[in-house]
This record gives sequence, structure tokens and C-alpha cells, in this order.
Amino acid sequence: MSTLELSARQTADFELLANGGFKPLEGFQGSADWQAICDSMRLADGSPWPIPVTLATDRGEVGETLSLVGSEGTRLGTITIEEVYERDLQHEAQQVYRTTDGQHPGVAAMLREGSRTIAGPISADALPSHIDAVAPYLLSPADTRAKFAELGWKTVVGFQTRNPIHRAHEYITKAALEIVDGLFIHPIVGETKDDDIPADTRMRCYEVLLERYYPPDRVLLGVNPSAMRYAGPREAIFHALVRKNYGCTHFIVGRDHAGVGSYYGTFDAQVIFDEFEPGELGIEPLKFEHSFWCNITKGMATAKTSPSGPEDRVFLSGTKVREMLGRGERPPEEFSRPEVADVLIEAYTGSGAPA
Ligand code: ADX
Repeated sequence: MSTLELSARQTADFELLANGGFKPLEGFQGSADWQAICDSMRLADGSPWPIPVTLATDRGEVGETLSLVGSEGTRLGTITIEEVYERDLQHEAQQVYRTTDGQHPGVAAMLREGSRTIAGPISADALPSHIDAVAPYLLSPADTRAKFAELGWKTVVGFQTRNPIHRAHEYITKAALEIVDGLFIHPIVGETKDDDIPADTRMRCYEVLLERYYPPDRVLLGVNPSAMRYAGPREAIFHALVRKNYGCTHFIVGRDHAGVGSYYGTFDAQVIFDEFEPGELGIEPLKFEHSFWCNITKGMATAKTSPSGPEDRVFLSGTKVREMLGRGERPPEEFSRPEVADVLIEAYTGSGAPA
């Protein structure tokens, strides 16, 4: 049997296909599903699915079974090829990412992998290995469902993130937790773009934050091995469906969810949920406005809950925060908990926290 070495993104997709995170998918998708997803955000059978999960390669023919090896070296299992087809990448980019701009990191990743695509069911013998910082938090959908049941959580809100948790994230997760039994913090630890903070540093941030600022019996931290797509609105639906598979009943969608640059409107990722019938997705989005520290009420808020104007709000751009951290300075406490800032300062400067 010949061997196909998967890219890091394909390896991550294999893991989610194998562990049930991408249910009802059982393999890399063929042309009928690809077309239906691009055109109507649904699988060929009509069920909701917003982003194709495909395997682009110049190897393999119909009828062949290939042995799959992960980018980190694990012999993962096999794919039995039922179809070989060419994807129209421009069409996929426009439909899924709302742009054909090759500068968009999700579009760029898709273009890099190419259009020749093999499809068919996979069989898994093993899952990919992960770095030490991530490995203890690798819970499968079956694991998290069992854990939620053991904790007696009937309602659980999932929180997707690719960043350290700053005060705004903390606020919306806690606001959500007020109306459900438990909070599942589920950062993406697959491939992210180069200027996003690497997963090992982020894991330290989550650990120090949870240690001090969240009640341990109401929060579970797990990791989502998938790669970020930066597909904004469609990725919000994708993230929600995956978290449903992990056992969540609710899912947080804040401002510019899974967005990048200025490709998407601030609340496009919330509006897109209205394109589905109520209850159809099987998970309830909890939508939050842009959250900030309000100097009048002296607390975190959104425009919905605070009388402030822009001058009363603490707002720091990502660039400004990175500059401060690079100089070894903590951003204000209204923006980031000091323990989290210190982990980031260490990562940015290679040295310890300020005195
Ligand atoms: S994302 O790519 O995973 O969406 P990030 O980790 O920054 O990026 O965001 C995680 C979640 O928090 C998303 O639902 C996002 O919309 C939300 N979010 C981030 N910052 C804010 C903010 N200031 N106000 C409201 N929601 C926010």
C-alpha cells in the first residue's frame, strides 16, 4: 500500500474526522458534498455544513487505499479513494471566504494545497501526537460528553478562541456562564497564522487565568486540534457544529468571530445563524456585542449595558498591546489580567515578568 504524508492542516482534519468532532462526516468529502457546501452551506443530503473538509493531493487513484501519515510522523490509518476530482478554488474561495484575495490566510492555505482532490472514507488506527503543553487537554467528543454528564451539566456553553483570554473574552464567557450549567473553553491549537500567539504560550495563559479567576467546578478546558480557517461567518457555523459534537448546547459568538483583517463585517458571524431554521443546527448561538472596560461603571460592559461613549472605554489595538508586551510592559488591568500579561511578556521578550 502506498503512503501519503498529510500536511499539518490535513492531519488536523483527520483527527477531527477520526474522533467524531466532524460528525456526521466519515471521510474527506467528494464533489457532491463540496458543491452543496459551497452553494448552500449544506451537505448533499441537506444537513447544515458550512466549510468543505477535503484532501488535496496529486497522489492516489479511484479504488486505491492509501496509508496516511501525519505531518508529525504518526501512521494514522487509511483512506479508501472513491472519487478523484478538481475543485474550483476560485468558487470555493468566493463562497466560503467571501473573497478570492490570495492575501487572505484561509484562501492562501487553500490555494497552496491545490485543486486535485481525493475523497473517501477514512479508517483510523491512531491519532496524531501533540506537543506537551497541549497533550493533557486533548479530550475527544466522547470524553467531554462523559465529563459533562459526570459533572451534572445539562447545558454547556462552548467558547472558541485562538487568542489569550483577555478581559473582554473573560466577560463574555462569564456572562454566558450565568445562564448555563458549565463553560467549555475550547481553544484551537491547530495551525494558525504566523502572527497569532502559539498554542504553548496560550495554554500557559489559560492555565494561569483559570487558576485564579474562574470557579474550577464550572469550567472545563480542552483543546480543539483543528486549524483556523479565518472564514469569519461560515467558520462561526463550523465552530458551533463542532462544539455541538463535543456536547455543548450553546456557543459564544462575539464580535468579528474567526475574522481577519477587514474581510467581514463586525457582526456578520452572528447574522449568518439566521440563515438556518430555529433549532436546525442543534446548538444555540449566544451573541455578544463588542465588550470593553467602561470607566463610568468601572466594569466590563458592552454598548448594550453601559452608558459610556467611546471616550469612556478602554480600547487597545492588537498592535499597541504587542508593542507594550515586547517592551516588557503589562497592558492595563482593564484590558488583561496581570498573570496573563506576564506569560505573554515572557514569551515576547524571553525574560521574566516585570517587578
Ligand atoms: S476567534 O478567531 O477565535 O474568533 P478570538 O480568540 O479573539 O478570535 O475570539 C474568541 C471569541 O471571542 C469570538 O467569539 C469573538 O467573536 C469573541 N470576542 C473577541 N473579542 C471580543 C470583544 N472585545 N467583544 C466581544 N466579543 C469578542
